[in-house]
Amino acid sequence: MNCRDYVIVGYGGIGSGISAQILQQAEVERLVVLSRSARTHADSRVQFVQGDVSCPETLADVFKRVSTPCCVINTIGFLHGESFTPEKRLADVKKDALLHSIEVNAYSTIALAQAIEQSFSRKQAISLVALSARVGSIADNRLGGWLSYRVSKAALNMALRTISVEWRRTRPLNLVIAYHPGTVDTALSAPFQASVPEGRLFNTQQAGRYLIDVLSQLSADDSGSFRAWDGGEIAW
Ligand SMILES: NC(=O)c1ccc[n+]([C@@H]2O[C@H](COP(=O)([O-])OP(=O)(O)OC[C@H]3O[C@@H](n4cnc5c(N)ncnc54)[C@H](OP(=O)(O)O)[C@@H]3O)[C@@H](O)[C@H]2O)c1
Repeated sequence: MNCRDYVIVGYGGIGSGISAQILQQAEVERLVVLSRSARTHADSRVQFVQGDVSCPETLADVFKRVSTPCCVINTIGFLHGESFTPEKRLADVKKDALLHSIEVNAYSTIALAQAIEQSFSRKQAISLVALSARVGSIADNRLGGWLSYRVSKAALNMALRTISVEWRRTRPLNLVIAYHPGTVDTALSAPFQASVPEGRLFNTQQAGRYLIDVLSQLSADDSGSFRAWDGGEIAW
């Protein structure tokens, strides 16, 4: 995969780490970042757009700014909030938190894929990468817990796989993957870092570098896979 233009959705810990790594590539011409907050960047290749990923007009504006082949990376995610801690047991599940998790963690990527179809012809190669999580793997689930996060990431994974099947037929140049970044030192993982083995808590720069390395080894033939930070495949 060889892109000169990138779109990043969300500018949290991993979103900013990936952005920094992208900007280290001299051949990159443009990086458009969609964030809910107003932001600025010293690098003239960066354009920030303030808005919400669920707004079709906002996404049309974002995609108008890039040329293809380009890579779209969704880095937004929700695990915990002011009034919500990930569930330890079934009895903790609240409908509102579950639906909010699905909206942020799964629907955002579906909205992005729809906007890609609206904005680009079938002959334009686009890579769509969404940050998922290993805990969204159904096959890998032996611990339980975190029901809303697991359900929403499993829904994201199924959405990506389904989009990849459809695009293999209608947009065969496109690459669609789910990506697990490892455990990364951000606000999202901060309350849960105590049990991370030594050397396995990555900083955001590392996380960005690993993603760019993995993407550099992939082509449209790899569409429909679930990849980890080390390039290995994760069972759905
Ligand atoms: N950190 C880890 O260890 C880890 C492990 C596995 C997977 N992941 C996944 O990696 C992705 C990035 O996580 P992170 O660690 O970088 O977390 P983070 O620092 O908390 O950033 C997440 C970003 O998501 C966006 N966001 C949060 N709530 C949102 C909402 N309700 N609506 C729209 N956007 C919202 C925000 O971007 P803006 O404020 O810019 O809009 C926020 O900065 C997530 O999908 C997460 O599930 C992280």
